[in-house]
Amino acid sequence: MLSSVVVAAAFAGIASAGKGFTGKPVIAGYWPSYAADLLQPKDIQFGEFTHIVRHWFVAESTPTYELGFGGAENLIAPVVSRAKKAGVSVSLSIGGWTGSIYFSDLVANATGRAAYAKSIKKTLDKYGFSGADLDWEFPGSQGIGCNTIRPEDADNFLAFLKVLRDTVGPDTRLSAAVSVGGILGADGNLYQRTGDLAKYLDYVTIMAYDIYGYGWSATTGPVGQLYDTCATDEGSGVSGALAVKLWTDAGFPAKKLLLGMPAYAYPYKTASSKLAQRKVNGKTSLAYQNRTDEVPKGGVTSAGEGTDSCGNPTAAAPSWLFKELISTGKLTSNGTVGKGGFTRYFDACSGTPFLFNSKTRDFIAYDDPASFGVKAQFARKNGLAGINMFDLTGDTKESLLVNAARAQLLGESFPDPAPGITVGDGTINAPLATSTPPSSSSSRRAHVPRLFAFGRLF
Ligand SMILES: *[C@@H]1O[C@H](CO)[C@@H](O)[C@H](O)[C@H]1NC(C)=O
Ligand SMILES: *[C@@H]1O[C@H](CO)[C@@H](O)[C@H](O)[C@H]1NC(C)=O
Ligand SMILES: *[C@@H]1O[C@H](CO)[C@@H](O)[C@H](O)[C@H]1NC(C)=O
Repeated sequence: MLSSVVVAAAFAGIASAGKGFTGKPVIAGYWPSYAADLLQPKDIQFGEFTHIVRHWFVAESTPTYELGFGGAENLIAPVVSRAKKAGVSVSLSIGGWTGSIYFSDLVANATGRAAYAKSIKKTLDKYGFSGADLDWEFPGSQGIGCNTIRPEDADNFLAFLKVLRDTVGPDTRLSAAVSVGGILGADGNLYQRTGDLAKYLDYVTIMAYDIYGYGWSATTGPVGQLYDTCATDEGSGVSGALAVKLWTDAGFPAKKLLLGMPAYAYPYKTASSKLAQRKVNGKTSLAYQNRTDEVPKGGVTSAGEGTDSCGNPTAAAPSWLFKELISTGKLTSNGTVGKGGFTRYFDACSGTPFLFNSKTRDFIAYDDPASFGVKAQFARKNGLAGINMFDLTGDTKESLLVNAARAQLLGESFPDPAPGITVGDGTINAPLATSTPPSSSSSRRAHVPRLFAFGRLF
């Protein structure tokens, strides 16, 4: 049913965007200005990256076309100037989980689109940013709970990107961060003109994380599974590999895709002190365990129960930075062996590790150098532009995570990222949107995971 549309989109998508695409692998990472106390601008390892996205939820706390920084403008110059000195491009991120409330309104008509594009250009020029990263969560689908939303959001987004590209010119880097479930069109299915987004965007980052998490998943599971091989119903049809297939099938070129990778962990308390095997199509996994509602311990980025920016009550959101798993004695300093009662497992089905302490029933799903390597290898083998880490505060001083990805994308010989382990099974199940068009929008929406890492804090 979708195929003729997909083919049309593929041809329409060939036209090139700006000059931002260099053809060299992209090693990108988000630096969250709201967490500047965890990683000062002077401590950012610019040398490890080709691009930094300065992640700041701006612009939509009120329905105005002016971009604002909530009084923390003093953090812009230290990052932009250091990035430039290091030869690293730096984008301003616009939107995010808490900053997308009025996105739909802002781009709803031609007048608004022109005004917003002008305002973005003015802001980029004023501070010397190399580009803008549009992080609308989400066009055509509800995010935090009180976003304005229209069936024609995706069409309006595409129309806005055209105006924005015309406004900023070809040399400004334009990118977007998107859900693993893709962007939804007015019919509630995958946006039919997904491929056309490539006309104006240099890159799209697939936010291939928050697939399973304490606040919204019935079982434990990987933060960012590369494959859904052994997943429960909840995470079945949602993975990094499937998202890449979804975008490329829709005509969006692989060479403009960045695979998003989490530098953080989600903890759980399992129901049993023994890990149960889950067997799916002859593959066995220990990553999907029944859990209890007990709130597990988390690190500095954890949030307690509270109220989000929509005024709705939120559950506790415990999390750990990858580097905290080392600094709190759960992993050895090289990040590969469990410590302090924790055993480290690598789940071949999903391509991700987890830690388990059978005495305390603490289960921690995360990403590590091995999974970063596996995912970056996937990116290289599938012709992607590169990777994008969320976020810089999670990696160690030695850049264990990003270096593992660099070795797969920029190295001369590519080391085996996970020796002795065959990751996934090579079979990518077709995601719902491209195999059988779902009968109702709700079935697709169920597969758009809730992406709220850190967002509810800010
Ligand atoms: C354009 O959209 C804005 C924001 O939703 C609205 O305030 C304005 O009235 C609209 N203008 C037209 C001409 O529809
Ligand atoms: C997990 O929970 C489900 C639903 O309560 C139950 O049917 C299943 O037996 C449990 N699995 C294990 C391994 O305990
Ligand atoms: C990591 O450190 C542990 C403990 O010090 C050691 O046993 C292991 O061999 C190291 N792994 C690598 C890959 O260096």
